[in-house]
Amino acid sequence: MCTRRYRAPGRVNLLGEHTDYNQGFVLPCAIDRYTEVTATLRRDRTMRVESDGEHDTFTLDAVRRTRSWRDYVRGVVQLLELEHGASLRIRSTVPRGAGLSSSASLEVAVARSLSDLPGEELALLAQRAENEFVGVQSGIMDQFAVTLARAGHALLLDCRDLTYRHIPIPEGVAIVVCDSHVKRRLAESGYNERRAACEAAARRLGLSSLRDATFEQVRDLPRARHVVTENERTLRGAAALEAGDCVTFGELMNASHASLRDDYEVVPPALDELAAATRAVEGCYGSRITGAGFGGCTVSLVTDAAVEQVGAAAEALGATVYACQASDGVRAGPAGPALR
Ligand code: GLA
Repeated sequence: MCTRRYRAPGRVNLLGEHTDYNQGFVLPCAIDRYTEVTATLRRDRTMRVESDGEHDTFTLDAVRRTRSWRDYVRGVVQLLELEHGASLRIRSTVPRGAGLSSSASLEVAVARSLSDLPGEELALLAQRAENEFVGVQSGIMDQFAVTLARAGHALLLDCRDLTYRHIPIPEGVAIVVCDSHVKRRLAESGYNERRAACEAAARRLGLSSLRDATFEQVRDLPRARHVVTENERTLRGAAALEAGDCVTFGELMNASHASLRDDYEVVPPALDELAAATRAVEGCYGSRITGAGFGGCTVSLVTDAAVEQVGAAAEALGATVYACQASDGVRAGPAGPALR
């Protein structure tokens, strides 16, 4: 029996929020929390899935929605149009529901364990599974980062043509993710509403997306203004990071947070407080809410020496702290210690 084992990381976005579905720029990195899938191919057309004690069994001839985590697996399997079934054993250390892309990580790990598609196609298939099967209208950032990120680097992705570049993260700095535990309530309806507002603004301007809007055109439209200024921050941030200029990068993170709070309105007060508290620690270059918003996590860029203090400031507000390494995208694995 042929067995394949792959692991896909979670991701955190450093800059470029709510820009992917506007054909803009994003700058995420993968983090060292993983979903690992061991796939044993079968002769029949049955899929047997076991994930940390939960189970799913279905046939390739009728893949139906369950409205649970199983749909991330089922959606990918359906799109792969497999000839033979498989038994999948899934283990994950990516926190669920925190906005660190546990779902994209699961989709990509499953897809890679069952297919040798090139990375770009694999990421697009995983996104289609989420859009069409699960029914969440997310952009391409998460699946792309989880598939194509590189250790020690952020990934600058142009979401219009999917060209990308790996940008080295300077030595001596760490990425600290703080989970506020504020449930991402409204995340789905709020996300769809923001997305629709952007599409409507682009239509009114006669553009195919806000990617092509100028600041002058969106000056009085807060949602669209966020997108235009965020694209600019992302490109400037990538250049700063490449030049080893963490101070400028941190300022751009702070400005992104303010724009997400004031113009895009996806920052609840607790997340604003958390970003402010971590930012106030000496050695923290910048902090912002990360991901879709409405709850979830902040991300901070900090000197190695300041990691502990930034963590303590976040814990004092009840947050859970993850000090993260920028990691590789999906790989045969595990390279490190086996997941339980
Ligand atoms: C979620 C989506 C992404 C992206 C972010 C906001 O994580 O899955 O595609 O739109 O929100 O930047």
